Amino acid sequence: MDRVYLDHAATTPPDPRVVETMLPMFTRYWGNPSSISLEGQEARRALDSARKLCADLLGAQPKEIVFTSGGTEADNMAIRGAAFAQRARGRGNHVVTTQIEHHAVLNTVEQLEREGFRATYLPVDHEGFVDLGALEDAVGPETIVVSVMAANNEVGTIEPIAEVSRIAKAKNPNVVVHTDAVQAAGAIDITPAKLGVDLLSLAAHKFYGPKGVGLLYVKNRTPFQAMIFGGGQEKERRSGTENVPGIVGLATAMKLAWDEAEDRNAHAGKLRGRLLYGLPERIPDTVITGPADPASRLSNSVSCCFRNVEGESVLLALDMAGIAASSGSACTTGSLEPSHVLTAMGIDRDLAHASLRLTVGKDNTAAQIDYVLDKLPEIVARLRSLAG
Ligand SMILES: Cc1ncc(COP(=O)(O)O)c(C=O)c1O
Repeated sequence: MDRVYLDHAATTPPDPRVVETMLPMFTRYWGNPSSISLEGQEARRALDSARKLCADLLGAQPKEIVFTSGGTEADNMAIRGAAFAQRARGRGNHVVTTQIEHHAVLNTVEQLEREGFRATYLPVDHEGFVDLGALEDAVGPETIVVSVMAANNEVGTIEPIAEVSRIAKAKNPNVVVHTDAVQAAGAIDITPAKLGVDLLSLAAHKFYGPKGVGLLYVKNRTPFQAMIFGGGQEKERRSGTENVPGIVGLATAMKLAWDEAEDRNAHAGKLRGRLLYGLPERIPDTVITGPADPASRLSNSVSCCFRNVEGESVLLALDMAGIAASSGSACTTGSLEPSHVLTAMGIDRDLAHASLRLTVGKDNTAAQIDYVLDKLPEIVARLRSLAG
């Protein structure tokens, strides 16, 4: 069996159709889109049409799209950009987010606290759903930004963003609502107008596009302050010569993801189902984490904990067996702390240390999943016997 890649939430292999549209941007249309020359104009045309495509797919206007270096930058820019602009207008200094956000959001909000803002980190229930009652209590006249992720990267929980937005804006119409849609993009409908959000982040490498490129949707007239200064690109909101090959790749990957969403979800859902039902059946003391209702979790996401084994040891053994997986978020892998997501969901620390995340993709096959269902029970049994 060749390698079985089940870590699509960490990153996805670039689709050859995406790479194909990027290559001419290196070999032929390599000009600087800000130059007046023919070379510059050609690059500008590619950039403009990529922006128009991304905007159309989001039901947005091209001027509402700001290209970034990925999800982390889009999240930083969204939260800081709105928080500082709102504070400058005298609207308050309170930011609301959740305890289960990606560190791109959590660490940004913590930094804002060091800069004099006040923050509330909303709790979630045992399936990872944000506590909407706590949101309603938290939002007040001083609240300026609410940031809740569209879907969680560790346990796949799909958050009720339209509700979040409705509740937040009913309590305070001036609140700017942001959603980190990095994991949700391509899997669920993230049209900003439907979600009722002002700001939305996504990253190309989660849906078969290149790494190091993403976008931030900024709804027209949203209070927003630039965080990167220079030549005034992206309508003064994010200076720096644009990553034209990456942006073209992002737009192609988005188009393919949107067009093929139904097929990809159906395929992923089938493979995920085999794992969600097969793992607890074959491995004693398996606890599936995240929503019990498959419709409330991302179609590609399986997360679980095995009692009495170390998650890291399982990962290493899987890797030796040719299977790429992760213990949660790629960013916290290697840290000795149990996942902040699992602990926020009330999972005890010992169990949280034994977590595994398997995220399937469009090119995985049923035979690969059967291979995993064969290997994983052996691995867990062996590690348990060593520990016991
Ligand atoms: C939910 C979420 N937000 C943000 C990010 C960061 O995105 P990027 O890796 O493009 O910086 C990730 C990446 O794993 C993510 O899963």
